[in-house]
Amino acid sequence: MRIPLIAANWKLHKDVGEALHFVEELAPRVADVEGTDVVIAPPFTALEPLKGAVAGTPLKLAGQNVSPELQGAFTGEISVQMLLDVGCSYVIVGHSERRTLFGETSELVAQKAAASQQGGLRPIVCVGESLEERAGGRTFAVVGEQVERSLARIEPAQADQLVLAYEPVWAIGTGHNATPEQAQEVHGFIREQLRKSIGEVAGRIRIIYGGSVKPENIFVLMEQPDIDGALVGGASLDPASFFAIIRFDRPPGEATA
Ligand code: PGA
Repeated sequence: MRIPLIAANWKLHKDVGEALHFVEELAPRVADVEGTDVVIAPPFTALEPLKGAVAGTPLKLAGQNVSPELQGAFTGEISVQMLLDVGCSYVIVGHSERRTLFGETSELVAQKAAASQQGGLRPIVCVGESLEERAGGRTFAVVGEQVERSLARIEPAQADQLVLAYEPVWAIGTGHNATPEQAQEVHGFIREQLRKSIGEVAGRIRIIYGGSVKPENIFVLMEQPDIDGALVGGASLDPASFFAIIRFDRPPGEATA
């Protein structure tokens, strides 16, 4: 049984006041949400204030990035221990914006994922193909290689703590989500690849979808057998819209009711 995971990736949005306001609005609504893990990844600056705000609620915190280093002369970096200290239990690693805009390679992502796992922070490892790669029929080759390299340093014995996020680059922030069938095809492929490399634990690893997830499309995505949740950018910035996504079990039309 895989517990669904819905995560908000706020990217470069919300100052401390805005973040606190969001949690004040969301917390009462999620108070009776059971059987779904709900995670918020705010900017680093809002983590410490949100630590207090989410205490006693089902909400969990995530970093949007982390250093592979434990400590030392690494200006601008934030360590696993620092994220734990401000209340994080998850961290996003290898988001496509980090890969394309900040030059992160799968080797670096592997170091970050391993450092997180060793430190007791659950990594949400992102993979996904570009439009050009999909058009060229290379989706499975690209995603397969990203998965293999990004997880190269993961300890299989603790792999059930791991979360994979399949986020086709062409669907992120564009309004064009993958169809449920397109997403399921890749999620199934990823799970099969995990099964081959680390065995039956693959059945317990959550593989979540990201890329223009909205209240209107979450229901059909979550109906797919290998889609275990969502990583939500734009639609996670508003508490009402994020809450409608958390209630993914409502059919379209009912989600925002
Ligand atoms: P989006 O972003 O929901 O705005 O497409 C998703 C993500 O980048 O994680």
